Amino acid sequence: MKIIGGPASQLLASRTARALGTEPVLCEFNRFPDGELYLRIAEETENEHVTLIQSTPTDSDLVSLLQLIDACEGARELNVVIPYMGYARQDKKFKPGEPISARAVARCIRADRIFTVNIHEKSVLEHFPSPAYNLDAAKLIGKHIASLGMENPLLIAPDSGAERLVKNVSSGLGYDYDHLEKTRLSGDTVVIKTKNLDVTGRQIVLVDDMIATGGTMAESIKMLRAQGAAGVHIACVHPVLARNAALRLFNAGVKDIIGTDTLEKAESRLSVAPLIADALKGP
Ligand code: R5P
Repeated sequence: MKIIGGPASQLLASRTARALGTEPVLCEFNRFPDGELYLRIAEETENEHVTLIQSTPTDSDLVSLLQLIDACEGARELNVVIPYMGYARQDKKFKPGEPISARAVARCIRADRIFTVNIHEKSVLEHFPSPAYNLDAAKLIGKHIASLGMENPLLIAPDSGAERLVKNVSSGLGYDYDHLEKTRLSGDTVVIKTKNLDVTGRQIVLVDDMIATGGTMAESIKMLRAQGAAGVHIACVHPVLARNAALRLFNAGVKDIIGTDTLEKAESRLSVAPLIADALKGP
């Protein structure tokens, strides 16, 4: 199988290729003088089994993915892995006149199989015109938390949307878990409702699918510390960490932030490559 990594997922594609015992295919990524994107896959893909791995945190990354799919037109089998799918959060019309952006994006992606990792809303998978599957990094995160050797940690989701994730992360580890109640006021401002949890002296791990502006996590950290938590750590699948998010979190008093390599950041210390490799091998 030929593994091709787009510009946003070079490391992850290399790790996945290695997990499958192969080398990633080289690509050239460039821009035309007018700013349009150019790419070229350095090997023939005609009649080959091909897997493209490309997260789409930016519009350019989405265009690169569409270009890669088009360049693989003659492949015998095409798998598309979108480890982090941008626009997945606009999964419904929140106000009249808005698009369902997740649907608009999904409709453009056609392949034999499509894989996402902890997509924001599973219902988005139904918008892809091809069979689409969601991979779950919860066990990977749980294993990492266990390796930190914290005594009796409490795992907390900052909102009800991440309740299932925190449950899956703690599954098999026997850790206590709970979730907070969040109201979003704007793109980067949220209010976390005070909840009477007994966190005094406990190590907390806040678990969410993604950290974008850091607003959700910063408010949660402040509340938990004010309630007497001994330390607050963060684990997420997608470390988007837009703008000054990391700074906001450290200012709020976080001990550490870990994420996976669905996005390639300094905080991406866990790799989802084994998950992807297993999914590609099939049942
Ligand atoms: C939303 O439901 C997500 O699970 C995250 O909680 C959210 O995207 C985080 O955004 P931010 O870091 O901007 O608060």
